[in-house]
Amino acid sequence: MNQVIQASLYDYPKYYDLVYGSDWKAEFDFLVACFENLAGRTVRRVFEPACGTGRLMYRLAKAGCEVSGLDLNPRAVDYCNRRLERHGFPASAFVGDMADFRLPRKVDAAFNTIGSFRHLVSGRAAQDHLQCIANCLNKGGLYVLGFHLTPTVGQPLEEESWSARRGHLCVNTYMWTAERNLRRREERLGMTCDVYTPTKTLRLNEEIIFRTYTKRQFEKLVSDVPELEIAKVFDFHYEFENPVELGPETEDAVFILRKR
Ligand SMILES: C[S@@+](CC[C@H](N)C(=O)[O-])C[C@H]1O[C@@H](n2cnc3c(N)ncnc32)[C@H](O)[C@@H]1O
Repeated sequence: MNQVIQASLYDYPKYYDLVYGSDWKAEFDFLVACFENLAGRTVRRVFEPACGTGRLMYRLAKAGCEVSGLDLNPRAVDYCNRRLERHGFPASAFVGDMADFRLPRKVDAAFNTIGSFRHLVSGRAAQDHLQCIANCLNKGGLYVLGFHLTPTVGQPLEEESWSARRGHLCVNTYMWTAERNLRRREERLGMTCDVYTPTKTLRLNEEIIFRTYTKRQFEKLVSDVPELEIAKVFDFHYEFENPVELGPETEDAVFILRKR
């Protein structure tokens, strides 16, 4: 590696979007199926908290939805807005905290599919987030929320890697659990991201803290926000025809929350 630095992949939206943006189709089709079949209303206006580069937002906009999103990271928001504008849509992403926001108009659905919710490390922030979502949804509206649960039986997943290439740019990420403290409800992850271009190689090293959830801990959290109910659960296969029953060994879960 030419250069090794301590930095977050989220500060490099182009690299982030290559790695996590390439595998979008199943997730996109699944979201559309949920919106069409599980919402208690027609879904037109859609919101993504922790939208990052908005890899799904601009595709939903192209499919006819009015989209908006927020993210803590201004670089990701800028990337997201520039792409929306390039495709002829308003720059509707803004910098904000998913645990403390309001929207100017209510939306019909929101989604947050690849674990960003677990960035909220305190119970207070997690509950505030669900309350903000409940406040911004129209009645019958959906929140599609996907993240890894901690299984209470069996060994949880300890590592994950992703890689993608476009032209001469290649990005490989590797993420591993450095420590899991179930009493503090914290998982400490290490992550490396290796970037290869014809003129340079770069390694980003970072540490991420995630909050842990067992099935029961998440169900309890949802019950603390009475406007929301769990309508259905799926897994990361994103197969709308195959909802799952959560068991003690289940790890990946996509909850469909509905506003009562
Ligand atoms: C794994 S990325 C997901 C991005 C996008 N949702 C996607 O599916 O590609 C997680 C994102 O969460 C954002 N994030 C972390 N904590 C946040 C918070 N409290 N409020 C808003 N965004 C946050 C990060 O900046 C990052 O862009």
